[in-house]
Amino acid sequence: MAEHLNRLGWCLPIDEQILTSPSSPLSQPVEITWQGGNRRVGNRFAVQPMEGWDGEADGRPSALTRRRWLRFATSGAKLIWGGEAVAVLPEARANPNQLWLNDRTAASFEALCKDFVKAHRERFGQENDLLIGLQLTHSGRFCRPHDKNRPEPIIAYHHPILDMKFGLSPDQPPVSDQELARIVRAFGEAARLAQTAGFDFVDLKHCHGYLGHEFLSAFDRPGPYGGDFENRTRLLRELVAAARDAAPGLEIGVRLSAYDTVPLMKDPENGQGHPVDVSAHLPYRWGFGVNQLEPTLPDLTETKALLRLLSSLDIRLVNITASSPYYAPHLTRPALFPPCDGYLPPEDPLEGAARLQSVTRELKATAPEMVFVSSGWSYFQNFLPHLGQALVREGWTDFVGLGRMMLSYPDFPADALEKGRLDPKRICRTFSDCTNGPRNGMISGCYPLDPFYKTRPEAEKLKTIKLRHMIPSDRTPANLIPS
Ligand SMILES: Cc1cc2nc3c(=O)[nH]c(=O)nc-3n(C[C@H](O)[C@H](O)[C@H](O)COP(=O)(O)O)c2cc1C
Repeated sequence: MAEHLNRLGWCLPIDEQILTSPSSPLSQPVEITWQGGNRRVGNRFAVQPMEGWDGEADGRPSALTRRRWLRFATSGAKLIWGGEAVAVLPEARANPNQLWLNDRTAASFEALCKDFVKAHRERFGQENDLLIGLQLTHSGRFCRPHDKNRPEPIIAYHHPILDMKFGLSPDQPPVSDQELARIVRAFGEAARLAQTAGFDFVDLKHCHGYLGHEFLSAFDRPGPYGGDFENRTRLLRELVAAARDAAPGLEIGVRLSAYDTVPLMKDPENGQGHPVDVSAHLPYRWGFGVNQLEPTLPDLTETKALLRLLSSLDIRLVNITASSPYYAPHLTRPALFPPCDGYLPPEDPLEGAARLQSVTRELKATAPEMVFVSSGWSYFQNFLPHLGQALVREGWTDFVGLGRMMLSYPDFPADALEKGRLDPKRICRTFSDCTNGPRNGMISGCYPLDPFYKTRPEAEKLKTIKLRHMIPSDRTPANLIPS
């Protein structure tokens, strides 16, 4: 792995062996100092938010949601970053089965939170070092609240490429400033309900192309929410203020797409992804954390300014991710087998995974007072703990945030820390079926490796669908497997 990374030009520290608790850096607690005093988080594993497209129509968690969350609870990770994206308004849902927190569903969230803590306590003997957040979202451009196949986008501004890619009419008005005031109130109300339900913090989601993230790049939007950095971060500041007003003492975290890129399209000939040609539209003004003259490259100047802003607002928890799974999945979820609405990765997926860690390192160095979770870990597969413990030891990140691995192998953290051994049959191989399911109107889950999903009818349907998306054999992802 180290050699393969080096050949690609990435120099990441990596340990030879998996260390167990208490000698592993991943087993060391973290003290977080924030408004309400100090909080101790028991180890360095975090569970990333992982939506299942399986909530009830009224927004309550279903039996499937519960199963996923309770597996997170007994994973061994001590930081639960948000569970999954939870909409703050009905029209803000990304699909008709997205969770939605409101007066009528709050009791189910409270029950889920209590059961979560109980399951964790039963497995690990204590819960006072467990930190649980709830991720609050408005799906913005990717809203589909009524029908999985009918987009009902709510946009900050017209994006020349995404409008075209997702068939948005130029006549659709961007969300109005008045409407934003209602959205801000809804986030405040959801924060209040999350606090009552027992969550320790809320994540005010600013990633993956959803509304909060889109506002950070609203360069061309007129009025108080667009243009300069001050205006583009106004919504974020108002969301923080609303959450603090409505839920005093509740902590806040922000999951942030730290850099972006030009949306990619699939080459119909060879299935390869390539960024849309924007050479005639430079400087590129439709991405946050991009180099406007070479917009396929990150520029972290504003990302660092945003971290300073968050720090000045007394926000301590930040979770670094990138771009959006809707138009650049290779940056967000590096995978050997791309999702069926995606493309063959334009780079070795290991590059995407390494970039996320390197960027987190650079950001952590500029805001050492903040507690960082880094993303995109699943592609490291068997080597995840070897890298995780080295990166935490050397201060690249505070937490190793696990996404897809949590679906195939939820007790990965416990196995790594308790046994120093992993079960190779349960390691996520980034088959992307957890994304393929939802992209084809089905629930998410690890169809290849979790016996519970393997035997469901959706697993068979997915096999057929994938055959239709076969890629040319000389470009199989197997050619990209790290040695
Ligand atoms: C099925 C699926 C659901 C996801 N749901 C969410 C979500 O609700 N909120 C969020 O911020 N990210 C979500 N993500 C992104 C993950 O949290 C994570 O950033 C991504 O999978 C990369 O990490 P990994 O390499 O460990 O999988 C989801 C990803 C997948 C594959």
